Amino acid sequence: MRFPMARTVLSFLTLTAFLYASQVNVYSHRHYDSDRLLFERFTEQTGIEVNVVTARAGELIQRLQREGRLSPADVLITVDIGNLQEAKDKGLLRPITSETIAENIPPHLRDSENYWHGLTKRARIIVYNKETVDPRTLSTYEALTEPEWKGRLLVRSSDSMYNQSLMASLVAHKGEAAAQAWAEGVVANLVRAPRGNDRDQIRAVAAGEADLAVVNTYYLGLMENSPNAADRQVAASVGIFFPNQDDRGAHINISGAGVTASSRNPEAAVKLIEFLTAQEAQQIFAQENYEYPANPSVALSDTVAAWGQFKEDTISLTEVGQQVHKAIGIFDRAGWR
Ligand SMILES: [Fe+2]
Repeated sequence: MRFPMARTVLSFLTLTAFLYASQVNVYSHRHYDSDRLLFERFTEQTGIEVNVVTARAGELIQRLQREGRLSPADVLITVDIGNLQEAKDKGLLRPITSETIAENIPPHLRDSENYWHGLTKRARIIVYNKETVDPRTLSTYEALTEPEWKGRLLVRSSDSMYNQSLMASLVAHKGEAAAQAWAEGVVANLVRAPRGNDRDQIRAVAAGEADLAVVNTYYLGLMENSPNAADRQVAASVGIFFPNQDDRGAHINISGAGVTASSRNPEAAVKLIEFLTAQEAQQIFAQENYEYPANPSVALSDTVAAWGQFKEDTISLTEVGQQVHKAIGIFDRAGWR
């Protein structure tokens, strides 16, 4: 062996390249059991190992910024369009071209420049107390500001991205002034200052502390199928109402993924996102977490199908994401804490 040192270096490089090629590092804000199962399936099928760091989107975005080009992350997965847009704006994602993703996911659920890609949909809808509210008196998000709902409405705080995106969609559709008036009207009708998460709002409606709340659909699915009898009881005592069916449709948000700008293994990263948009993974999202699959060819879970079909707002989420900063200003001015 004439160049033992060179051979050692070469085999080290080959091994390193092999290790990179056979694993993909994911920073994920999705906080659901379904995802563990998905990554296992991906590894079984491709031999590519998935290492996951789970944290809140804000922390993951900060971490990506801090790590810069040295970040080990290949894929960022977050809930909410606002987070995906922020990651894109901060230069943390890269655009990818994938025919598979383009075939699997409709254009309005993807970034117009291919930086992020929707995986699942959730509708932000109205839940009502079945004993006190006739659903025929419900219509739109806008109508929640009417005097008849004074002291009867609950919604979580404005630092929830889910609310920021709903507000951003109002800005996109109706302009900033109308969105501001809506925020003030909602605040005027609240039972109390916002506190707790979506599930807490649902529990409060079931307990008769309020008549209406604005929440994400999958929380109801999880409660309907909960091992906890009290949660099942809560879910049974509230009704679900899809607003704005006679105009633009109910507000839709997504969880989604993008390949990081720093990724050293973008091929594996794209493979993982493609896998997550295809039949098998989409079915798991739908069945395990009661989300609406972003891939329209995949069936809904029985629980979600039972809520009935509805018209969804198909505004481009790229457009909604661009209005999130205005939404935050509106919440501040309206005193929506
Ligand atoms: Fe959530």
